[in-house]
Amino acid sequence: MKGMFITFEGPDGSGKTTQMELLARHLELKGFKVLCTREPGGTPLAEAIRRLLLSPWPEQVLGITEVFLYAAGRAQHVREKLLPALEAGRIVLSDRFVDSSVAYQGFGRGLDPGLVGRINELATGGLTPRLTLLLDLPPEEGLRRRRAAERKDGPDRFEEEDLDFHRRVREGYLELARREPGRIKIINAAASRDEVFRQVREAVEPLLEGP
Ligand code: TYD
Repeated sequence: MKGMFITFEGPDGSGKTTQMELLARHLELKGFKVLCTREPGGTPLAEAIRRLLLSPWPEQVLGITEVFLYAAGRAQHVREKLLPALEAGRIVLSDRFVDSSVAYQGFGRGLDPGLVGRINELATGGLTPRLTLLLDLPPEEGLRRRRAAERKDGPDRFEEEDLDFHRRVREGYLELARREPGRIKIINAAASRDEVFRQVREAVEPLLEGP
């Protein structure tokens, strides 16, 4: 595969989306062809699944149901969008990928993280990011930022989760980073926007030089 796949992970309010856009512009200025995308979503069908996932329901949405819905959208996203872009030699930046499922449905909701990983292995056909930027932030700070931003579309299901859930998600991410230090780089997202972007560039730069 000629391109390079980089993902952004971390809690809501960590600034992932902003940093991804900054990195895309930075790479484009260097002459790279970049594709930005996100999960859940990224194709029309996967965006429809995203709307299902983020809507409120009059029944409890089971963790295992979530795993399959996220994985179904991901299967479509990988084959319809990510692989073709990588084949075309692009740098693909995704706002969330498999690590979100392992952190949220696995560590957060208490499903076996190994099982979540295996289901996603099927969904992605084994596609793994070359680099994952984990924007790490204490959950209290993430929730505070989200509230301050007062999103016009109101809170989604996940923002109503309690603080303990977000603590488990954070610990899950950090555990994944300990297991795969070569792929997952921890970024201190509590710093200023410019300082966070400096850390992001520092993690990406070595990959642009070598073959
Ligand atoms: P989104 O608005 O994309 O996230 P953000 O708040 O970071 O902008 O909402 C996606 C939500 O879905 C987010 O709370 C994390 C969650 N999620 C999972 O639980 N599992 C997954 O596999 C993915 C991709 C997201």
